[in-house]
Amino acid sequence: MFDTMTFTKILGGFCGAFLIFLLGNWAGESLYHTGGGEGGHGEAHADAYPIETGDDHGGEPVEEVDFATLLAAADIGKGERVFNKCRSCHSIEDGVNGTGPSLFGVVERDVASAAGFGFSGALDGIEGNWTPEALSAFLQSPKGFAPGTAMSFNGLPKETDRANIIAWLATLN
Ligand code: HEC
Repeated sequence: MFDTMTFTKILGGFCGAFLIFLLGNWAGESLYHTGGGEGGHGEAHADAYPIETGDDHGGEPVEEVDFATLLAAADIGKGERVFNKCRSCHSIEDGVNGTGPSLFGVVERDVASAAGFGFSGALDGIEGNWTPEALSAFLQSPKGFAPGTAMSFNGLPKETDRANIIAWLATLN
């Protein structure tokens, strides 16, 4: 009898605890699902992704406005220093190509038109001119802008660096 009592108490306690645990679990899950699961989280992700990819695609129109402002305020002297990262491959003398094509007059020049340079198909396939915006996109991520490009350069992540060097390159035209 004593044993049965103890056993019943233990069992009762265990069942009670288990029930509370189950209830807590269920409450927690339903809170999570209604609060975060369907609506909240879904929307949070939907919001998060366009912001991340916005840099590469959707963000461009916004960037153009900003970029024009940056370009107008660009520091040409600093731009010349940024060019130190390009020197090993690029000359700024007209018609002098190295590993990369001459960058003399590259701003507003036709893409992949430097005389005597064998461009990769990646750049050959891009229509139009090297507008400051196109240059900025290319320099931010050469491989992102022109997948397969022969320019093995990681890119200039800082927008001010890009504005400065493009402003400086434009003085060479
Ligand atoms: C490791 C060598 C290397 C470095 C460093 C490098 N480039 Fe290039 N660049 C190339 C090559 C190679 C090409 C030709 C790419 C192709 O044909 O796909 C190129 C192409 C270009 C073009 C396209 C030119 C045209 O006539 O269409 C521009 C603009 C350019 N580079 C700018 C820069 C700038 C600015 C820097 C420095 C911030 C830089 N590059 C750093 C090798 C380099």
